[in-house]
Amino acid sequence: MGKVYVFDHPLIQHKLSYIRDKSTGTKEFRELVDEVSMLMAYEITREMPLKEVEIETPVMTCKTSVLAGKKVGLVPILRAGLGMVDGMLKLIPAAKVGHVGLYRDPETLEPIEYYVKLPSDINERELIVIDPMLATGGSAVAAVTALKKRGAKNMKLMCLIAAPEGIEKFHQVHPDIDIYVAAVDDKLDDHGYIVPGLGDAGDRLYGTK
Ligand code: URA
Repeated sequence: MGKVYVFDHPLIQHKLSYIRDKSTGTKEFRELVDEVSMLMAYEITREMPLKEVEIETPVMTCKTSVLAGKKVGLVPILRAGLGMVDGMLKLIPAAKVGHVGLYRDPETLEPIEYYVKLPSDINERELIVIDPMLATGGSAVAAVTALKKRGAKNMKLMCLIAAPEGIEKFHQVHPDIDIYVAAVDDKLDDHGYIVPGLGDAGDRLYGTK
C-alpha cells in the first residue's frame, strides 16, 4: 500500500498557516504557495540517488557527488496545480513540465480529460504529479490513470493539503504511489471542500470567484 509523508518542516507549517488564513490576499497567497512549493521540492527530492564523480577544485582533485537518478518531470493538474510549478522549478530547474486538464462530467460526475500534454520520455522520468488539494481524490486518480496509460512508470503525488477521504480513494486505485503533503486535514464538508482547508485553491491563486 502507498505511504503518506507529511512534510513537518517548521517553515512549511508556518507558511501553510498564512496560506490557510482567509485574510491573506491573492498576491501574498501566490507568493506563499510559491515558497512552500520550493520547500516541498527540497523535501521530496531528499532520497534522490547520488553518484560519485571526480572534480578538480583549484586546490586538488577530489571525489564528490552529483545526482545520478532519472530525470524529473512535473505534472500539475490544471488549474490550481500550476501555482506550485514555478516554486518547484527553482530547485529542479531542468525538470520538464507536462499538463493534465480534467473537467467533471455534469451527469456522471466522473472526471474527463480535456487536455494532456506530456514530455515524450515520461516513461524514463521520475514524475511528480501536483494537485494542491486532494479532496475527493477524483482528479488525482484520473490524472495518474491518464499518465499510466501513456507509459509513466515512476510517480509521486504532491499536495498542499489532503483529506483522509481523498487519500483513501487515491490509494484504493493507485496503491503503488506515495503521497507527499504539507498537511492532512480533518475531513470533507458536504460541498467537497477540505475542512479546515484553505478554500478553493484555484480561486485564491488567481483571484477568481
Ligand atoms: N479543491 C479546492 O481547491 N479546495 C478544497 O477544499 C477542495 C477541492
